[in-house]
Amino acid sequence: MPLTGKRILVGLSGGIAAYKSAELVRRLKERHAEVRVVMTESAKSFITPLTLQAVSGEPVSDALLDPAAEAGMGHIELAKWADLVLIAPASANTLARLAAGLADDLLTTLCLATPASLAVAPAMNQQMYRHPATQDNLATLARRQTLVWGPAQGAQACGDVGPGRMLEPMALVGLVEQHFAPKAQPLAGIKLMLTAGPTREALDPVRFISNHSSGKMGFALAQAAAELGAEVTLVSGPVSLATPAGVQRLDVESAAQMHAAVMAGIDRQQIFIACAAVADYAPKTVASHKIKKTAADTMVIELTKNPDIVANVAALPNKPFTVGFAAETRDVEKYARDKLDRKKLDMIAANNVAMAGQGFNSDDNALTVFWPTGQTELPLAGKTELARHLLTLIAEKYHDTH
Ligand code: PMT
Repeated sequence: MPLTGKRILVGLSGGIAAYKSAELVRRLKERHAEVRVVMTESAKSFITPLTLQAVSGEPVSDALLDPAAEAGMGHIELAKWADLVLIAPASANTLARLAAGLADDLLTTLCLATPASLAVAPAMNQQMYRHPATQDNLATLARRQTLVWGPAQGAQACGDVGPGRMLEPMALVGLVEQHFAPKAQPLAGIKLMLTAGPTREALDPVRFISNHSSGKMGFALAQAAAELGAEVTLVSGPVSLATPAGVQRLDVESAAQMHAAVMAGIDRQQIFIACAAVADYAPKTVASHKIKKTAADTMVIELTKNPDIVANVAALPNKPFTVGFAAETRDVEKYARDKLDRKKLDMIAANNVAMAGQGFNSDDNALTVFWPTGQTELPLAGKTELARHLLTLIAEKYHDTH
């Protein structure tokens, strides 16, 4: 029984799907999980605490400032007790409160106080689900590693049809089991370095040349590599992203600094992935004071070539398994294969950065991956999921050749 002894805190917020939560609790208990239930005020309009107490066999908590509850298992203790907090149903309002980091009732306070993983099963009207505010809140939560399970599509209690139905209890139980299942770690013991984000090439103390890379793809790869057991060093250009758990991060600004940071640590690495959008050229001179506007209508900036980091790594005598990226706007295969050969890479992941909704600074991407003897498509997906697929492929090809 994969859930034996696992401590699952099921949170209910207000929504018609709350009636399914009793079944969810029952199924988790059947699998020998320890389950505690926390309800918001509005959840109690849809299902009674007594029903959930009966199926969980434990008192249901619903108030933040309840002396009786604090004398037993207080809210901080409950937050520390949980191995997983699963909010099902998660209403639009509760998602908004979580995204804002509010602690205005027991459930949201627990979510801030718990070191456990948080999963949400959204349930709401399809129009509310599609609203940009809800989508932004879900994206914020996903960025903070909250697991978003569902919603399902279909007919809704209000008569609408569309996305917003809470996943069925057995589907949620399956996801809980998957969450606790031991993960395969094909990169255990492997040292992996990667570059991410843009570089900035200074013109003067206040101006620079850069690009639209957000670092999302590279950070997702760093997270996926750490999840697969690798010892990860992430060399990052200037981005505003949190460092994934267990990853060592080195911050740099320019291509020259990124090159120096990579070269200083590359001899210890078995795998290198170049995901950064490195500027190919930098201004030949950097003015020591702000460049002044002149009467002339044009200005010429002389540029000089930056070192090619991935090509330099691939040219090392004891080179690591080296993976490049190719950001192309046309003839993707032709240019990607050319980079694979010219830079002597083991693999290259090509993305079409001219396609809307993928590539630079978006949450999704699609890749065509080439290696000397083959290629495969990794279709459009969130960057976190895509990174897992790419790292699994890299692990497979690395082990084939080592
Ligand atoms: O950061 P995001 O917003 O999530 O966007 C992700 C991404 C689009 C930046 C990413 O998926 C991507 O395509 N990264 C590579 C961008 C790029 O610079 O591609 P390129 O085709 O110009 O370069 C080819 C390869 O050489 C890349 O691996 C690049 O890191 C490397 N390179 C390039 C120049 C240089 N001086 N040194 C390098 O190492």
